[in-house]
Amino acid sequence: MFKRIDNKGERKAKMKAWQQLTFKSGLNLKNRLVKAATSETLGDSSANPTPQLINLYRKWSEGGIGMIISGNVMVDRTARGEVGNVVVDDQTNLNLLKKWAAAGKSNNSHMLLQLNHPGRQAPKTLNPHPVAPSSVALKGDNAFGFNPPRALTLPEIKEIIAAFGRAAQLAEQAGFSGVEIHAAHGYLLNQFLSPAANKRTDAYGGSLENRMRIVLQIYDRIRSLTSSSFTVGIKINSSDFTPDGFTVEDSLAVMKALDKRGIDFIEISGGSYEQLKMMGTGKGAMFIKYSKTAKKEVTAPIIVTGGFRTAEGIEQALASNATDLVGLARPIVLNPTLPNDLGNNRFSKVVVPHFSTGWSQLDKKVGSIVGLAYYEEQMDRLTKGKEIKQPRTAWPILAYAFRKQGLGALMPRRG
Ligand SMILES: Cc1cc2nc3c(=O)[nH]c(=O)nc-3n(C[C@H](O)[C@H](O)[C@H](O)COP(=O)(O)O)c2cc1C
Repeated sequence: MFKRIDNKGERKAKMKAWQQLTFKSGLNLKNRLVKAATSETLGDSSANPTPQLINLYRKWSEGGIGMIISGNVMVDRTARGEVGNVVVDDQTNLNLLKKWAAAGKSNNSHMLLQLNHPGRQAPKTLNPHPVAPSSVALKGDNAFGFNPPRALTLPEIKEIIAAFGRAAQLAEQAGFSGVEIHAAHGYLLNQFLSPAANKRTDAYGGSLENRMRIVLQIYDRIRSLTSSSFTVGIKINSSDFTPDGFTVEDSLAVMKALDKRGIDFIEISGGSYEQLKMMGTGKGAMFIKYSKTAKKEVTAPIIVTGGFRTAEGIEQALASNATDLVGLARPIVLNPTLPNDLGNNRFSKVVVPHFSTGWSQLDKKVGSIVGLAYYEEQMDRLTKGKEIKQPRTAWPILAYAFRKQGLGALMPRRG
């Protein structure tokens, strides 16, 4: 427990978490706390942001966070990862995007859109004909929810690069502070990076230089279409944790290439739908060992996301220079005022609950659905001004998932 210090300004001044940080773009963050991407699935049937979604981001901004990253936003409406995704691919929802950006920036925080394409990780209920670098199907327990993908043609790859660029351009027009390219968690760009998913023999496959080409071209395209004060970062796996997948050495090489090009920040995570590492619980901050190595190799500020649960853990990771910024997903859903509470000495820890159906075999099957639907329901409640609730079993959460998604609730997703 921390000793209470009455002078709040003095306490904040002593905390590493409340030190400012400025990106190369010039974007100045008031503290070192980042809301990591949490796909809210609160887009409407035309894939526009809803008033509820906008409201939720105002709440997070009011809670004192320095930087907010949106849940993944798709760059192409024919390639969606989940029901309720927001899509940014043309001007039609620009006014709503403007409102969303303004809400996320309302209390002197900055807000970025996370840009994504699911590739083969598009559930078959939503997309029966997914595309990917190569026609390599997902493996493992979650594979039943996904059809094997078709390999992209070269013109299609060019179109995807253009789509990321267009989405970033629209994000700047809407008033967002920047974008984060999602190259982690097994989605399309991670599939290109991974030698297990990418078997291409052209300029986009084979050597690491070729496998990272699409990521670098997307980065360059975004830079060419946005102003120099627009922030561009990336979320990347430290490793895929699968045989023959993207390795720590690969990851460091991609980071270095992006660093050389002047990327503003690098967010570190890990895992995919084949190996749900990013959704780990309970054992403290994940990927810290890797971030210490990465920090020696790159100049861009590093965000580590995953597993931060205590004031002490956050402060220690920052004070020991293991990371420059701390990313929070589940904790900031359960406690949207965590940053202000931390600064005011009112936060010591958050408990991320575990829910069981009472049958361990069933828990193995539905555990990841429960783990995600619980947070979706809490975000839904926050938008309505309701308190966070903690049911005693997994059953009410499963009931919520079915009410919202019907049988689609059974489709595996990120966690
Ligand atoms: C409900 C929910 C939705 C998520 N959506 C995304 C997403 O859209 N993009 C992404 O990169 N990560 C997503 N994640 C993963 C988080 O950003 C984060 O990497 C992970 O939850 C570990 O951080 P935590 O321990 O602070 O929760 C999501 C996690 C949750 C719980």
